[in-house]
Amino acid sequence: MEWVKAFALGYLLGSIPFGLLLSLAAGQGDIRKIGSGNIGATNVLRTGNKGLAAATLLLDLGKGLLPVLLAWRWFPDYVPITAFAAVIGHCFPVWLRFKGGKGVATNAGVSFGLAWPIGLAYALVWLGLLGVVRISSLAGMSAVIASAIAAALLGYMQFVPVLAGIAVLVIWLHRANVKRLLNGTEPRIGSRK
Ligand code: G3P
Repeated sequence: MEWVKAFALGYLLGSIPFGLLLSLAAGQGDIRKIGSGNIGATNVLRTGNKGLAAATLLLDLGKGLLPVLLAWRWFPDYVPITAFAAVIGHCFPVWLRFKGGKGVATNAGVSFGLAWPIGLAYALVWLGLLGVVRISSLAGMSAVIASAIAAALLGYMQFVPVLAGIAVLVIWLHRANVKRLLNGTEPRIGSRK
């Protein structure tokens, strides 16, 4: 039952809701009652606390990276399962009655853990679009799609199914953002809405 252990490793680390925990610890209240209600760094930034948002981003990224790196060591045959489970843990944490985040930062860590060139492609698209359009959801969804395409183009075919599956999940979780993008009301980074 190695695959169950590989899944549990990813899920347990991925499900730590850092955005919520840090916001509560910093006295900002329940992040789920602010802005979009999401527990990710973009919404933490809407509290106005940049340090807290940066810490959320790094920790959410780390909880995707760490289990994948451990899986390479402990369950090398099941690394994609751990990768998928880390994103599932972030998006559907049992501790928050399965209502978690949208997976963009965690999947950045996962991508770096699978293969650094995939992570690099993810980071370039994500940060590049963040800098140009300054819309977190659009940059995040583009990076998630880019990672699956990069895996195929760079010869990491064994990771294409898991990255494509994560991309479908992440875009579905952004359906409210997609609606706002289409009607032009999606806020830009730094806006408190
Ligand atoms: O990673 C989440 C981001 O893509 C969107 O966050 O709070 O604007 O829905 P938010």
